[in-house]
Amino acid sequence: MVEVQQFGVDQVDLRGPEKKDEPAILSLLVRAFGQSNEGRLVERLRGCRALVLERIATDNDGNLLGHLAFSRVTGTGEGHRLKISCLAPVCVEPAAKNKGVGTKLIQAALDELQGLGEDLVLVLGAPDYFNRFGFDSELAKKVQGPYAGPIFMALPFTQAGREELPVEVTYATPFQEFE
Ligand SMILES: CC(C)(COP(=O)(O)OP(=O)(O)OC[C@H]1O[C@@H](n2cnc3c(N)ncnc32)[C@H](O)[C@@H]1OP(=O)(O)O)[C@@H](O)C(=O)NCCC(=O)NCCS
Repeated sequence: MVEVQQFGVDQVDLRGPEKKDEPAILSLLVRAFGQSNEGRLVERLRGCRALVLERIATDNDGNLLGHLAFSRVTGTGEGHRLKISCLAPVCVEPAAKNKGVGTKLIQAALDELQGLGEDLVLVLGAPDYFNRFGFDSELAKKVQGPYAGPIFMALPFTQAGREELPVEVTYATPFQEFE
């Protein structure tokens, strides 16, 4: 478990989810996105073992504050050797938004992911939010795939992740069902 310091909510702990956490995660995803698609996506990614890293944030009473998942992305072309993953979905309990939970959860998970040897991480989301982690929409122009566009961003962890581009990417099968 990674402990992070006080930052608006009293204390936040980050850890991998256990089986018993899954109903609360599903419920959070539905409330955060206002629909069931993201919850179904996470369940399917788990089911087909496409997840590279899944983390939750809880408060000191164990209540769920946030969730994120990274899943495997396959590259072809110049960057076919790269280890690539995508961050999707990520969410914070609506009542706990804008208290730093998302920033801490995402940054700690990215640090962990970098330690696992990933070369490149992709995300689709608000550039004004994700650029604080180093996600870059210019670099993402060299990543060809189904989500290319102005809110598609890439974060390199290695020299290869910056330089062995362009790459064409395929997301895990549950994303194709998600569209
Ligand atoms: C996006 C989300 C995870 C951010 O989590 P959070 O804990 O509320 O964010 P933090 O407290 O770490 O950061 C708050 C900052 O981010 C900014 N921010 C939050 N959402 C933003 C968005 N969609 N676009 C731009 N900025 C955003 C806030 O204005 C605030 O800015 P400040 O630091 O300059 O004051 C959360 O708002 C959420 O769950 N949204 C619904 C699900 C979603 O859209 N997920 C992302 C795509 S999968």
